[in-house]
Amino acid sequence: MILTDKRILLIISGGIAAYKSLDLVRRLRERGAVVIPIMTKAAEEFVTLLAVGALAAHKVHTDLFSRDDEVDVGHIRLARDCDLVLVAPATADLMAKMANGLANDLASTVLLATERPVLMAPAMNPKMWSNPAVSRNASQLLIDGVHFVGPMRGEMAEGGEAGTGRMAEPLDIVAEVEALLDTAPKPLAGKRAIVTSGPTHEPIDPVRYIANRSSGTQGHAIAAALVKSGADVTLVSGPVTLADPRGVKVIHVERAEEMRDAVLASLPADIAVMVAAVADWRVATRSDEKIKKSADGSVPSLEFTENPDILKTVGHHEKRPKLVIGFAAETNDVETNATAKLNRKGADLIVANDVSPETGIMGGKRNRVAIISRDSVDRWPDLSKDEVADRLVTLIAEKLAGA
Ligand code: CTP
Repeated sequence: MILTDKRILLIISGGIAAYKSLDLVRRLRERGAVVIPIMTKAAEEFVTLLAVGALAAHKVHTDLFSRDDEVDVGHIRLARDCDLVLVAPATADLMAKMANGLANDLASTVLLATERPVLMAPAMNPKMWSNPAVSRNASQLLIDGVHFVGPMRGEMAEGGEAGTGRMAEPLDIVAEVEALLDTAPKPLAGKRAIVTSGPTHEPIDPVRYIANRSSGTQGHAIAAALVKSGADVTLVSGPVTLADPRGVKVIHVERAEEMRDAVLASLPADIAVMVAAVADWRVATRSDEKIKKSADGSVPSLEFTENPDILKTVGHHEKRPKLVIGFAAETNDVETNATAKLNRKGADLIVANDVSPETGIMGGKRNRVAIISRDSVDRWPDLSKDEVADRLVTLIAEKLAGA
């Protein structure tokens, strides 16, 4: 866990979004971070010292001229003795102070004194955010190396107004903090990857469709693991209930043909991992109107036509990625069928798994796979889908490095 024992100096300045900072404190601490809060005078109008202190399980610093703390020049110690300074919410006033080097309270003094990364989560009325003075200050802070998360579009907490100015959600702020403090190696930096995930839905009429049991868990986990390793990832996802993985460009599609078009439009890439359970067939002529029951009790018959094979198309494409990986969901003769698929589809590797109902793999959290290449079969133990994703990404990095 990236945040374990990391010291986050959290400056809460005075805006209505300060109520979200309470949740932010919890989210940071859940991930093992130590949160050292500083509140401006104005922040105390919105949340109490007691609430922030209790959630942080830490003294809340407020006073530049504290008799207790300034014996050892407390503001300098606070500025140094942390891994990152997070300002959430960052008001127009505090941004202006920092952009202009003002230091007339504890928060602004610490911001001037710190050499640690600073992440700001601005929150203000949309009219204020679009004011040229605020834009000027934000630009100056960016030039000075300050990082930003948000503000987002949406309704303001004070109600009635919409526009850009909402503070980013606590989990998005946490993700940004993690990204800034992540020192893990990035073996796939500069590489582009395309991942397909989830099922496809093939419409019968405007209200009915044919689908399969894929949840997208494995494909989404692979997209997330690729991002963690530094790759630039496009995820083409069929209909799933999962959230979009952070840091991934997600293209949402429904049908196999849409998925194929999105994948081909995303080429060129260095890596393609086709995890989606693409429907093999679609209804030949889908009805534009809801098919009604007939009075005489006769049932409709559906005629199917074959869908494009996306993996095969990519595996034989003139812009074929250097590494093309497919999955083979089988219920019998797993490795024999997977090897045949490898050759037929022009893939470098096939991740084969047994999806018989008794394995619980389809829609479940765990997976048991064998990695099939032209000259080897590597059977992995029973792992979580996240672990499969991490191991697969390590293998991808090795393959691309020529190991
Ligand atoms: N695949 C694809 N496009 C399709 C069908 C499959 O891209 N129309 C990809 C899947 O994403 C997976 C691999 O091909 O990476 C194998 O999928 P699978 O459904 O197991 O293979 P099929 O070609 O459908 O073979 P079969 O149904 O005969 O087992």
